[in-house]
Amino acid sequence: MARKISTEAIHGHEYRDRERGVFKVPIYQTAIYEYPDSATGEPRLSDRGLDLKYSREENYTVRALEKILAKLEKGVDCLAFGSGMAAIAAAYLSKLSAGSKILVPLECYGTTQELAQNLSKFGVKCILARSDTNEFLERLEDGISLALVETITNPMVRVADVKEIAKRCAELGIPLIIDNTFTTPILYNPLEDGAWIAVHSLTKYIAGHNDVVGGAIIVKSEEDAKTLWNWRRKLGSIMSPFDAFLTIRGVATLEARFEKQSRSALEIAEFLEDHPKIERVYYPGLSSSPYKSIADRIFKRRLYGGVLSFKVRGGQREAIEVLKSTELIKPTPSLGGVESLLTYPIWTAAKNMSREQMEMLEISENLLRLSVGLEDVEDLKEDLDRALSKI
Ligand SMILES: Cc1ncc(COP(=O)(O)O)c(C=O)c1O
Repeated sequence: MARKISTEAIHGHEYRDRERGVFKVPIYQTAIYEYPDSATGEPRLSDRGLDLKYSREENYTVRALEKILAKLEKGVDCLAFGSGMAAIAAAYLSKLSAGSKILVPLECYGTTQELAQNLSKFGVKCILARSDTNEFLERLEDGISLALVETITNPMVRVADVKEIAKRCAELGIPLIIDNTFTTPILYNPLEDGAWIAVHSLTKYIAGHNDVVGGAIIVKSEEDAKTLWNWRRKLGSIMSPFDAFLTIRGVATLEARFEKQSRSALEIAEFLEDHPKIERVYYPGLSSSPYKSIADRIFKRRLYGGVLSFKVRGGQREAIEVLKSTELIKPTPSLGGVESLLTYPIWTAAKNMSREQMEMLEISENLLRLSVGLEDVEDLKEDLDRALSKI
């Protein structure tokens, strides 16, 4: 019987040094390996059959993390990178060439979109479409070479029908990247629905402690692992052994963290919905959310992640006042870690959007995005209440 996700998150690295009695994964802080293997005189190979001579290509600590992530995402293999963007860049480069068309969501992580647009200097055309409406499905018919979608959009936390998008991509033979950062394998496994690859910013929930920057690609075939391994080798974008060690330590508690963060986020969303200083709350777990039914159909569990957005009564001045006034909750644009973080989307996620695009997506000057951490939920509500009382 396949082991469950929380077991694999702890034991899935498969590391065991029986001779020394060590089962915690050490940090293999080495740039080089004996090559050829001095015992056999043959080229040294990693367990995936690729060259093991240099840590820009392969590293035992990184490899242990990759085994865990491949199991969590129900893939064949995984490649860990120095950041989520490094993973996305390798995926783009491996599939695109002059004349290709890439389709990315209008509302998604800004740098993912910006990189796709910057590829125009190499003759790649970037098309933007809303992933939470039929527009994305319709644009797939435009001779698309590669598509990327995020499970939950940023910053409005809309749930895209990734199952339908994956199905249509499979019918049209379009490789689809699903960025599973917001949902994690606790809620969704993109490869099971036919995505070409799943990608993660490990910086967020997987590492989970706001002290590591990392990324990963999980693949369904050894062929894809080899191709992307070669891109990572050429780009020099492998994760460092120390960051892999911290991520192995972080991912072990993923399920417990994600569950608590999701439950606290729902409680805070409900609290804010009833708050007199709040105009509107956006969270797919709210019964008032138009995205709850999609989330309940797509997600494996009745959890909706730790990120919510809300509009304060007033404008930019009031939003910034709240951002400045929380004490526990820190103002910074990341998510998924143990600390609760508040961010002002029009300065971050929506920075490159036109006014029309922002209006279409309902991103306004009174919008704030909250990533709920692991603090006591009562303390968080009190912190928000105190900050909101200043406006
Ligand atoms: C959904 C999503 N994908 C990818 C990235 C990029 O990851 P990284 O910051 O680790 O490069 C981010 C970063 O915020 C993100 O939110």
